[in-house]
Amino acid sequence: MLKNQDIKKIINKTLNIDTNDDKETINESLVANVKQFNMNTEYLSDANKSNHLQLYKNYVESFNKISAELDGADKSDSNSNNSAFRSLKIDETYNMNAIYLHELYFANVNDPNSKITMDSLAYMRLARDFGSFDDWQKDFIACCKASRCGWVVTYYNFYTQTFMNTLIDLHSENVPVGFYPVIVMDVWQHAYYKDYLKDVKTYVVAMMKQFNWNIINKRFEKADKIVKALRG
Ligand SMILES: [Fe+2]
Repeated sequence: MLKNQDIKKIINKTLNIDTNDDKETINESLVANVKQFNMNTEYLSDANKSNHLQLYKNYVESFNKISAELDGADKSDSNSNNSAFRSLKIDETYNMNAIYLHELYFANVNDPNSKITMDSLAYMRLARDFGSFDDWQKDFIACCKASRCGWVVTYYNFYTQTFMNTLIDLHSENVPVGFYPVIVMDVWQHAYYKDYLKDVKTYVVAMMKQFNWNIINKRFEKADKIVKALRG
């Protein structure tokens, strides 16, 4: 039987989180760093790609600014009608999700030669929880068409204990509680309109052809390890 401390160690190791307990705890603002991505795709124009990467950098800058402001924010005036603290907390989630989702997206749509195999964990889990791999694809595409302007994510749901698809409007509307993302598609208009106008389905199908299944499969493996650790 695993103890809570053991579970925490396994999850931290799985997510590559620094667990140096000797580290001095200091009360300072969170800082995000811009990561480098190679959007290796011929299905998007260079102008689209550079514009998208710049947008991502802007979210990092916004998050760091908000984080610093929150560090010194006056919490005594916090209220649900109109308070600077409340606005900063809403913007914190919005920009933090924008950064994380973009990083997951850039990393999983960059392999024109990648193929999923039937014996891969990703294939088996999707087939198990959606009925078949084809059913997962149909559901994923339907979600992409249904998002108003936002994201579609295949994720492990810690409540239902299955992989599910969800659509997110903007960066933070309709984000399920208990959410571990494994496949991410950007369906903001800025991701495709320059090359595909309003044809979101053609854009999504093109991106799905070059999912990096090596990276995605590693995310499924991490999800499996976390689930096993939590079950004890
Ligand atoms: Fe985007």
